[in-house]
Amino acid sequence: MSATEAPKLSKNEDLKENSNYLRGTILEGLADVSTGAISADDGQLTKFHGIYQQDDRDVRNERRRQRLDKAYSFLIRVRVPGGICTPQQWLEMDRLSDENANGTLKLTTRQAFQFHGVIKSNLKQTIKEINDSLLDTIAACGDVNRNVMCNPNPFQSDVHAEVYELSKAISEHLTPNTRAYHEIWLDGEKVASTEEDVEPIYGKTYLPRKFKIVVAVPPSNDVDIFAHCLGFIAIVKDGKLVGFNVTVGGGMGMTHNNEKTYPRLADLLGFIKPEDAVKVAEAVVITQRENGDRSDRKHARLKYTVEDMGLDAFRAEVEQRSGVILEEAKPYTFDSTGDRYGWTEGTNGKWNLTLFIEGGRVRDTESYPMKTGLREIAKIHDGDFRLTANQNLIIGNVSKEKKALVDKLAAEYGLERGFKSSGLRLNSIACVALPTCGLALAESERYLPELVTELESVIEECGLHDDAIVIRSTGCPNGCGRPYLAEIGLVGRSPGKYNLYLGAGFAGDRLNKLYRESLTHDQIVAEVTPIIKRYAKERESGERFGDFTIRKGYVKPVKVAKTDWWAAN
Ligand code: HEM
Ligand code: SF4
Repeated sequence: MSATEAPKLSKNEDLKENSNYLRGTILEGLADVSTGAISADDGQLTKFHGIYQQDDRDVRNERRRQRLDKAYSFLIRVRVPGGICTPQQWLEMDRLSDENANGTLKLTTRQAFQFHGVIKSNLKQTIKEINDSLLDTIAACGDVNRNVMCNPNPFQSDVHAEVYELSKAISEHLTPNTRAYHEIWLDGEKVASTEEDVEPIYGKTYLPRKFKIVVAVPPSNDVDIFAHCLGFIAIVKDGKLVGFNVTVGGGMGMTHNNEKTYPRLADLLGFIKPEDAVKVAEAVVITQRENGDRSDRKHARLKYTVEDMGLDAFRAEVEQRSGVILEEAKPYTFDSTGDRYGWTEGTNGKWNLTLFIEGGRVRDTESYPMKTGLREIAKIHDGDFRLTANQNLIIGNVSKEKKALVDKLAAEYGLERGFKSSGLRLNSIACVALPTCGLALAESERYLPELVTELESVIEECGLHDDAIVIRSTGCPNGCGRPYLAEIGLVGRSPGKYNLYLGAGFAGDRLNKLYRESLTHDQIVAEVTPIIKRYAKERESGERFGDFTIRKGYVKPVKVAKTDWWAAN
């Protein structure tokens, strides 16, 4: 290739360019009743509409043997900016999950709802009904800015209300303009062929890759700000929001054995005033649009753009595009990524109940009617529902009058049982993986609870029941459950085998590092058990598990991801 020749664009770039602003042949594909699937190209485009084509991997082999088509169905992701919805919206999601999906709701690590198992003929009606409830699915996936997350903090309610408004404003500002979504799903009027859509922020080919924004309110780093492309750390002085430290270039995904890929923590870019946040968000998005790598999707996330441009050049371009000069970042402290369970009172005098939802899966089982319990609460609740970044749920802003009733229902349906769990379980996250995720190499959501149960015997034996230890698993290295920020991280390699990572910072401020490769369940237990035992005996006062594994030399700390992540221990 000559120096002037541009690298070949990735296939998705042509697809976006020729899709007529994300229409492709989605409408025609939906009308085709001869198959439960849509075409591969449309499958890339429907992501921008919040839909992934999947198939039931539990029955894949059997169906292949019987020469049947795969058991296709779809995932629908619902955006919930800042993670807050009304009780009415909760009831609608609950109903739709029963009537049109597999009867469960997944609360995701990015504060969204996911429906699994929606069949093609139900897609349109489901999306229409989601929109009727005033939530939507556009830009929930795809190469655009996705759901904007925000600390759901029920304590500092005044500041929280302000940062929540910001997350909604950013979300609205960066929502794609294309009318394709309305045309396809909501029977909106077709645009005349002479009339073009306009995407002032994205252009015809949108972003090189997905883009993720979060807002954090210290001391809580529950949103895992350093795992995201763009972050805003609220700086609060004397109870007032004075501005934000901006972070850029975080991201989790990597590919096994590909040293050009690595998870990366975001860098601090500088401090801005609250009124400049939307402008700066747009400038960061456009800087990525213009500089991101469109030739290699494994090198296209903002984290690589920041790494390749260098932070100073990146900042200069953001300043020039936004007209905002960033000041030096202000001091702040994060103390954890976890949720504060149980009842807390907000500064507004309302009450909040944070519940543990294992793996974020809301369902009823014979022994635990969780979904019914939450439905009964939603029927009488006068506040809101808040999805946390840890796949948990807050019954938020409960009035004094309703508190006793919510408490009674929570007790009646066993919703408070999670509070008795170990600090290990209460700080666990599992991505979905099998049977729905087409990329899963191993189990995750169906495996982690079992592993935690086994590790709990040593945790109890060592008297560590109340100690928070962050454990996360994913079925592949893409990192949807942010496993590289877990003190104990498990990443699927192949069926039944996982890489074990140790040494992340408890507050989400240091990546972990590979400790052992391709372990079976028994090997994981055998490796982790002695470390837990040693931690119980030899830790210093207040020392966190991740810090301990570094001090004792199990793994080296990852300081610069690009050089340290793949380096030998
Ligand atoms: C190359 C990178 C990635 C790809 C191709 C990818 C793809 C997917 C797919 C196919 C699913 C659907 C699984 C299912 O529900 O059946 C999923 C779920 C999800 N992904 Fe990713 N993902 C990637 C990286 C990430 C990262 C780095 C994050 C966040 C830090 C993330 C956040 C999520 C969330 C929140 C879900 C919903 C389920 C959950 O909470 O576990 N993804 N992803
Ligand atoms: S981490 Fe991998 S297995 Fe888990 S949901 Fe994401 S893509 Fe699927």
